[in-house]
Amino acid sequence: MNDKKQILASILQFDGVSKQELLEMITVPTDAKNGDYSLPCFRLAKTLRKSPVQIAGDAADRLTCLPPPFKKVEAVNGYLNFFVDGTLCAEKVLTEISEKGSEYGTSKEGEGKAICIDYSSINIAKPFHIGHLCTTVIGGSLYKIYQKLGYNAIGINHLGDWGTQFGKLIVAFKKWSSEEELQEKGMTELTRIYVQYHTEAESDPTLDDQARAWFKKIEDGDKEALRLYNLFKEITLREVQKTYKRLKISFDSYNGEAFYNDKMQPVLDELEQKGLLVEDRGAKIVDLSEEGMPPCLIVKADGATLYATRDLAAALYRKATYDFYKSLYVVAYQQNLHFRQVFKVLEKMGKDWAKDCVHVAFGMVSMESGAMSTRKGKVIYLEDVLNKAVERSLEIITEKNPDLESKEQTAEMVGVGAVIFSVLYNNRIKDIVFSYDKVLNFDGETGPYVQYTNARCISVLNKVGECTVKPDFSAVDNDEGKAVVSLLERFPDVLREAVDKYEPCFVGRFLVDLCKAYNRFYLVHRITSEPDAIKKARAMLTDAVHIVIEEGLRLMGIDAPKKM
Ligand code: ARG
Repeated sequence: MNDKKQILASILQFDGVSKQELLEMITVPTDAKNGDYSLPCFRLAKTLRKSPVQIAGDAADRLTCLPPPFKKVEAVNGYLNFFVDGTLCAEKVLTEISEKGSEYGTSKEGEGKAICIDYSSINIAKPFHIGHLCTTVIGGSLYKIYQKLGYNAIGINHLGDWGTQFGKLIVAFKKWSSEEELQEKGMTELTRIYVQYHTEAESDPTLDDQARAWFKKIEDGDKEALRLYNLFKEITLREVQKTYKRLKISFDSYNGEAFYNDKMQPVLDELEQKGLLVEDRGAKIVDLSEEGMPPCLIVKADGATLYATRDLAAALYRKATYDFYKSLYVVAYQQNLHFRQVFKVLEKMGKDWAKDCVHVAFGMVSMESGAMSTRKGKVIYLEDVLNKAVERSLEIITEKNPDLESKEQTAEMVGVGAVIFSVLYNNRIKDIVFSYDKVLNFDGETGPYVQYTNARCISVLNKVGECTVKPDFSAVDNDEGKAVVSLLERFPDVLREAVDKYEPCFVGRFLVDLCKAYNRFYLVHRITSEPDAIKKARAMLTDAVHIVIEEGLRLMGIDAPKKM
């Protein structure tokens, strides 16, 4: 909560106008000469039956004594403009950040509330491709921000580990691969045989029959079938862990689709008992025509359950296990209808918590080279994208700073960070066309730009060294300094807004704003060559920026190199 607005709203008193209304009317002027906060009095004219000019004038006369940090109020053309004491504000904010360090912005407001976050949710035996990037990093970042705000976040990787593709894979494996090859080449081999299967199945329809038979064996618990199924799962998970490590992603549960195999019957029974299950040409559906949606298919005519059936079972399981406050599904917008249907069915079942289930949808990532298809083998592996970004970072770093030690490590942080940042900088729902040049631009609104500003802060702090004099905070009470301080002060609110709207991009955008503001300050004001008290205040500002950048980046899953 912005406490300065709160202070203003409580000292301003107008008959018949609530504090809430005032809070909504107080603005932050774009031009600093109109104050730090302003109340436009136009909307009050009708209630108070006075002109805005008169209202502002009278109020300014009444407010003879202002509470800190406010130091001045002016009535100008129907506006009531408030000025804060920049020195006092800087002292308060910079001292707080210096004391709390990376704990700045941490809170307990979420205590006792569980948030389930279903993210990444990869499909076994299918490559971890660029399409998974958004769900993985958006979910991963929300997870960290919720934790920082004191919530009990539960990261769930709802693995796509069930379905007829496993039958196909067994057929393909038996025909064209071996365990040695699989162990050695991992996912590449799985993808290779999967692609080969689809090519050959076009001319040989018996393959699909064999695949169906093998899948049936998995369902029936046949030893050999299960062994291979588990092998595919193990290989996929082992490989994907490497990518998760680079992206700083972790999960509390890997309960995926297969986990719900024995948990669907109770759902079917409950649907039946509540009269929601309708027969439709041998299949069982929940009719959603009143809600203007196509029916939700629950059991196919051949008795097979579906993706939606598993999601219903999963939702019930999560509620029973975690008693969530909210349950988020970070999944591409292509599945909008699916989640609307699932949530609606839960609602029809009388689950009042259906309203706490949220589809956190996001747009598509594409490369300049166009669309992908796993079946045809046209995939862009996430690992390759990361590697290429790291490679390019190494080139840029080597060129900019040839003497830098540990260039490889730095390049890993910069390259991977740039890819993550590019996703988390956009509104979720926007489609992204990925370009290496854009995400690695050190002067753009990018990860490297933020990391670079942080490294600049660290270098300033190293030059200043130990400095124990009492800071003179008026040294940051200038336009550039005030801009930095007011951004720093906003950080806790930004985190709250990010989870309120499920938009980690608020953090990324905030960091870019903070870096721009600090770089402006750095350009205009000297630091290291100033007298001690001034130097100290400006170093504290620099340190606060550094602390907040590092913490902000951490919440995005990005490392901050000390030097670049
Ligand atoms: N594995 C699915 C896919 O790749 C995403 C699963 C999302 N989570 C869920 N509970 N449906 O499309």
